[in-house]
Amino acid sequence: MLEELTLQFGIPGAVGFVPGVNGLPKAMLSHESGASAEVYLHGAHVTSWRVVGGDDLFFMSAESAYEEGRPIRGGIPVIFPQFGGGPLPSHGFARLTEWEPTLAAVEENGEVEFALHLEDTPATRHLWPHPFRLELAVTLTERALVVRMTVENSGAEPFSFTEALHTYFSVADARRAAVRGLQGVTYIDSLRDDTREVETPEAITFTEETDRIYVAAPHVVQVEDQVRRRIITIEKHNMPDVVVWNPWTAKAQRMPDFGDSEYLRMVCVETGHMAAAHTLAPGATWQGVTRFSVV
Ligand code: BG6
Repeated sequence: MLEELTLQFGIPGAVGFVPGVNGLPKAMLSHESGASAEVYLHGAHVTSWRVVGGDDLFFMSAESAYEEGRPIRGGIPVIFPQFGGGPLPSHGFARLTEWEPTLAAVEENGEVEFALHLEDTPATRHLWPHPFRLELAVTLTERALVVRMTVENSGAEPFSFTEALHTYFSVADARRAAVRGLQGVTYIDSLRDDTREVETPEAITFTEETDRIYVAAPHVVQVEDQVRRRIITIEKHNMPDVVVWNPWTAKAQRMPDFGDSEYLRMVCVETGHMAAAHTLAPGATWQGVTRFSVV
């Protein structure tokens, strides 16, 4: 399989395929600047992003499963067609399914692009009875990673979905990390019976379990790691909401694929449609983009 992938999509020096954990196929993207990213075909899951001379910008749990039917813990889980709980498996089936590469390219300006797609199958229609085509395109530049998600309704009936890029950022110490850009935004507090509050501080900090959906959030949000003196900027387009999540101590202990103290090493800032579903007419397409950059 790796040989076939390399033959069809490999680009020497830019896109390669290697066995990841448990032999799951993984694409390795390399930018001429030295920046790199890794994408598992399982879930179209980005598990690593580095710029030259830096540590990984994404957190990966040492306890993560890497197996069929289970999500990978860390990086960017792709959430579709259901954010959170509901009739489908938690956060939908896209993160549990094997995707297929669509294209690999190096643009004239040196950007490296890798795209994958997922279409409905008898198994997805059994869970969610809609024909669809989902694409995830990852573009690696010198200081940024751009992730574009496209959903097409290839059936004859409208459907509604929620979606997210459930990104886990690596921080040296969550107690010394902050999320900025959400002051004045209304959030739904999942830990307080979904009550709605308006965010007051300029910087959101972490001292306990946090699980909030910021509704119609601004386009730019930042994650600051005060220990590493690093700021990651998240710019989103056509992805209205932002979730800020950290499981803290008790929930970390309850999660089987997450170390008890790993909550100190991560902060999730997620982008997408989480507060309300988006409806697509037959033949219609939706596209959302999130750009991560680091200075
Ligand atoms: C977040 C949710 O998006 O994902 C949390 O807001 C949830 O409530 C978290 O706990 C992790 O979900 P999962 O299914 O990956 O354990």
